[in-house]
Amino acid sequence: MVKFIVLVGLLALSFCVVMAADQSPLQDFCVAQSNSQMLLNGLACKDPSMVQASDFYFSGLHIPGNTSNALGSNGTLVSTAQIPGLNTLGIFLARIDFAPWGLNPPHTHPRGTEILTVIQGSIEVGFVTSNPDNRLISKIVNKGDVFVFPIGLVHYQRNVGSGNAVAVVALSSQNPGLVTIAHAVFGSKPDISTDLLVKAFQVDKSIISNIQAKV
Ligand SMILES: *[C@@H]1O[C@H](CO)[C@@H](O)[C@H](O)[C@H]1NC(C)=O
Ligand SMILES: *[C@@H]1O[C@H](CO)[C@@H](O)[C@H](O)[C@H]1NC(C)=O
Repeated sequence: MVKFIVLVGLLALSFCVVMAADQSPLQDFCVAQSNSQMLLNGLACKDPSMVQASDFYFSGLHIPGNTSNALGSNGTLVSTAQIPGLNTLGIFLARIDFAPWGLNPPHTHPRGTEILTVIQGSIEVGFVTSNPDNRLISKIVNKGDVFVFPIGLVHYQRNVGSGNAVAVVALSSQNPGLVTIAHAVFGSKPDISTDLLVKAFQVDKSIISNIQAKV
């Protein structure tokens, strides 16, 4: 009986995970209508007879993002804001630029698996499995290599080559979401109380305050 309940619980859990993905479209396309006030799961569709090739087009991914920031990385997004025709199709694209030692810090995408292709340079990539193992799966990938980050898992990328690095990433949702761990835990508004984080991380208050002040 207990085994049965556990099995049903696991099935229910896997069902939830499957439901977290974008649903399949029920029409050829649903080009986002930017001025619509309608609220639905995605954006309202433009009249299909008014749709043009430009609704499915974006130019600009050849232009590097500016990496002159504390982390030395920059993401250039190609979402429904850039290509309204992506609405309801369940995919998302971005270019990520890295200065030498530039870092895309530990983060998760709650609604999307990510597939990364290295265009230039050498990048250390890694993700961490769920509790209780918390196994780090990491590798150095080079130009032409492809690496996958499963949906929801904490992951990062760091340029470990001598020059700049460039990657293109695609995600399996039109709105995969981004939760940067440092910002969520130490930069929430309002702050999670410092004494709570002191207990969670088992370090001095000054260390927590220091991080909270930076993110
Ligand atoms: C990323 O690059 C763009 C284009 O160069 C720039 O406008 C933006 O401020 C940069 N973002 C960060 C976080 O540095
Ligand atoms: C990149 O960003 C830095 C910091 O914001 C700025 O000083 C610099 O002019 C920018 N470079 C380019 C090429 O836009």
